[in-house]
Amino acid sequence: MTLDLDTPAPDAPECADDGVWLACIACGSTFAPFEDVRYTCDDCDGLLEARYATPPTFEDFGEGASADGPDRGVWRYREALPFDIGVTLPEGDTPLHTVPRLEADVGVETLRVKHEGMNPTGSFKDRGMTVGVRVAEELDVGALACASTGNTSAALAAYGGRADLETLVLLPAGKVAAGKIAQASLHDARILEVDGNFDACLDIVQELAARGEAYLLNSLNPFRLEGQKTIGFEILEAFHADHDTYPDRIVLPVGNAGNTAALYKAFRELVQSGALDVDDVPKLTGVQAEGAAPMVEAIEDGADEVRRWEDVETRATAIRIGNPVNAPKALPGIRNTGGTAVAVSDDEITDAQRALAAEGVGVEPASAASVAGLRKLRRQGVVDDDERVVCLTTGHLLKDPDAAYEAGNDPEPVENDVGAVLELLEN
Ligand code: F0G
Repeated sequence: MTLDLDTPAPDAPECADDGVWLACIACGSTFAPFEDVRYTCDDCDGLLEARYATPPTFEDFGEGASADGPDRGVWRYREALPFDIGVTLPEGDTPLHTVPRLEADVGVETLRVKHEGMNPTGSFKDRGMTVGVRVAEELDVGALACASTGNTSAALAAYGGRADLETLVLLPAGKVAAGKIAQASLHDARILEVDGNFDACLDIVQELAARGEAYLLNSLNPFRLEGQKTIGFEILEAFHADHDTYPDRIVLPVGNAGNTAALYKAFRELVQSGALDVDDVPKLTGVQAEGAAPMVEAIEDGADEVRRWEDVETRATAIRIGNPVNAPKALPGIRNTGGTAVAVSDDEITDAQRALAAEGVGVEPASAASVAGLRKLRRQGVVDDDERVVCLTTGHLLKDPDAAYEAGNDPEPVENDVGAVLELLEN
């Protein structure tokens, strides 16, 4: 199995460019990485992933420090990426918060929260976009496109704009949070609102990309996941620096399952280089909303393939997805690390959003799914009380102001008068 955790580092095929190539995870065919635009395998239509002749060790990663440029954030990991640097805002280097009250409440030995909402456009998508747009420049494409539940569109618009490329985004009408549309709009993307869900938008944009209308920058694009795998590197480095060991488990929200696939790839590469022991790989644990949980269904059923859900609904609109295209990469990731997947209700998501906010960590609903899932798995006894856990929060609170108002306190109108204010405070 090419996606096993302990598969040795592959030899570079002839088509490799500077030690980098694309390989099909289904049939093993290999392709030159930057000669033609290609999203899936020519031979069997399977998913592609970037491979490297020399997988990274921790020593390969830069020290960090400079305020901008290649020593900061995502590009500090350039030895594990296909290029030295691309259009950068800069992204990555996000905080790994301690959350003492939440940790005690959940009842695990250690709980840290990796807040990806602190990226330049407010979500982890920036990590994938800085690499994806760099590849788009290499391929000399004129326009970029994506389908999105919102965050990808915000990142695409910002990075595409900075690269002076045209950007087109397809959004499910009425189902994208206000902050995200505002970003795509101001960063000058052309926005098409489709009368259908995210999966329908992705079907259309894939067809547009196949016809050469634009370069596809959804997570089906293997280079997006290269940028996102730096989340895994950062978590391992930062957690080890503080705890002298690695986390037992990483819990993350799952939509298209790109991040799950990307984290697994980070761990596989470190195992291949000998930098990480197989036994130290964190258990990847995916969380979906009950109304959009095809990955959870596949894990529970022991299925090799994910059944597409046509009707999906959840308050966590970022993960309102019924056809996770990266499932063939993510299912082995969850299984081979000894992880699991769990579905949570919208109310459990909102409760977790409030609990994070009480610790000063402001996240959008989809992000809080990770904490909601951890709580549920603790209640079920799937997660032990002696575990060291990292929850990933993927997007910032301000992405979805309406959900924040719903979950939080109502403002109280008051007269412009101290007496009136005091009277109100006494009640
Ligand atoms: N959390 C947030 C805030 C997201 O925006 C997404 C995906 C996910 C989690 C799920 O990540 O797809 O890698 O499993 N948002 C995409 C978008 C689909 O269009 O912004 P995944």
